Amino acid sequence: MIFDTHAHYTDGRFDEDRDDLLRSMAEHGIGQIVEIGASVQSTKDAVALADQYDFIYASVGVHPEDIARLTEEDMTWLAELTKRERVVAVGEIGLDYHYDEPPQDLQKKWFIRQLQVAAQTGMPVLIHSREAAKDTLDIMEEHCAWENGGVIHCFSYSWEIAQKYLEKGFYLGIGGVVTFKNSKKLKEVVEKAPLERIVLETDAPYLAPEPYRGKRNDSSYLTYVVDVVAELKQLEREEVIRVTEENAKKLYRL
Ligand code: NI
Repeated sequence: MIFDTHAHYTDGRFDEDRDDLLRSMAEHGIGQIVEIGASVQSTKDAVALADQYDFIYASVGVHPEDIARLTEEDMTWLAELTKRERVVAVGEIGLDYHYDEPPQDLQKKWFIRQLQVAAQTGMPVLIHSREAAKDTLDIMEEHCAWENGGVIHCFSYSWEIAQKYLEKGFYLGIGGVVTFKNSKKLKEVVEKAPLERIVLETDAPYLAPEPYRGKRNDSSYLTYVVDVVAELKQLEREEVIRVTEENAKKLYRL
């Protein structure tokens, strides 16, 4: 079944139908989902959601846009949470230079600290990196962040950058963007990367694939992403689903 490696179902946009929607996932061929922490609050909520459904796991971490008020106590708390049975990764963490805030130095500081938490606790990392390709790679290299594996979530860089992560044993997170007409660069990456190093993700409620672009996304729409990946790699849909599910289980050690 399809494994959604990255979703945000605790988002308010699911308040009205969250439970019904999640309970319908198996009917849509969705086997497992990882609910992603992106702030202190959403990390708490992710862990609670994973405790509620046997096919949902959680990651713990703070997204670069939300790091401004982090403290060392939060790092101790994150490390503690990784011991819980249904917590499978540290993330999403990283760098986002799209907006001017928070300042880049502060983003770097808390990216490094969270990489250290992952290293200490032996957890894979989920990396958010936007318009920050060089700094992300430099920091991961300097802080030996490759050891426990991980994924570059919503991969948006060139094939040249993709190769650097593949060499380090990382996975590329591929979602709705690959279905967009203007995603030539990403299509090239998917064509060239081995299927064994691709994982599927929604980033729900964001980044819905065509023909739902701009609407609320959910894991059942991954079927459209599977179609495009299968076409690009000239493989059967079933093969794409089977291999990416295996990859996700390896990544999260399930
Ligand atoms: Ni996300």
